[in-house]
Amino acid sequence: MEVIVAEHAGFCFGVTKAVETVYDQIKTEDGTHIYTFGPIIHNETVVRDLEKKGVKVIENVRELEKMAAASGGKMEGTIVIRSHGVTREVQAEIEKSGLKVIDATCPFVKRIHRIVDEESKKGKSIIVVGSASHPEVEGIVSYAGERVSVVAGPEEALKFSGDKDEKYTIVAQTTFNKNKFKETIEIFENNVYNINVVNTICNATDERQSEAEEIASKADAMIVIGGANSSNSRKLYDICSEKCKNTYFIQTLEDLHLDLPEDVKLVGITAGASTPKNIIEEVQNYVRTNF
Ligand code: F3S
Repeated sequence: MEVIVAEHAGFCFGVTKAVETVYDQIKTEDGTHIYTFGPIIHNETVVRDLEKKGVKVIENVRELEKMAAASGGKMEGTIVIRSHGVTREVQAEIEKSGLKVIDATCPFVKRIHRIVDEESKKGKSIIVVGSASHPEVEGIVSYAGERVSVVAGPEEALKFSGDKDEKYTIVAQTTFNKNKFKETIEIFENNVYNINVVNTICNATDERQSEAEEIASKADAMIVIGGANSSNSRKLYDICSEKCKNTYFIQTLEDLHLDLPEDVKLVGITAGASTPKNIIEEVQNYVRTNF
């Protein structure tokens, strides 16, 4: 049986940078004074390892405000903003806390903040194609002006009833499914909205999804490794399941209960942007030696 591991599986550039930033910080200062705003990545193993080294996760603004108030606005230490970025308001709160701020927001996300800010100032309405409750999208929305909508995909685009005299700029969540983005845009075009489209799906996502789709279309079974809360991993799972009916979604090797038909010849493996290399290797070795 052959096993193919996607070349573009695992940590993307933005996640690597954010995680390395925290580990580098541990080398230069006592880990007990390092905070991350939300878990640095959607991977429990990495987050637990950082916790052991003293890094604390601040879950939300309320928690930060309480801590800042208790210290009289003079919190000591460093806070790292993760690759998804935060809202303008949260950024301001973080800066008020007294902590040294290291902003590890991925440059591809920063670019979207800039685009929606500039386009709003030019008088355009903004449409963000993505998941409204995802922290990245919340951040993007906060940089747009008042006329901003979030559309989850083609179904919501069909229901969208905006002003046809308005000019819209449409951007995508960086990890959005590129085929679904295309479909969504086509709906806006068919409904004769005046749109300017900026495809902000990042390269890492594009390459990862295209490669996963290609492997899944020839594989007899496909394994997608990713955190339960990782939206890019879920999307990879959706893409692979469309092409390969034996697609498994796991977080670590422990979740893998492969029930493969006798005649399986090719197993494909891919992983979301927050999956460390060692987990991909463990899964790969297991499949190679046990099947
Ligand atoms: Fe950045 Fe793309 Fe990763 S936006 S965090 S390189 S998935």
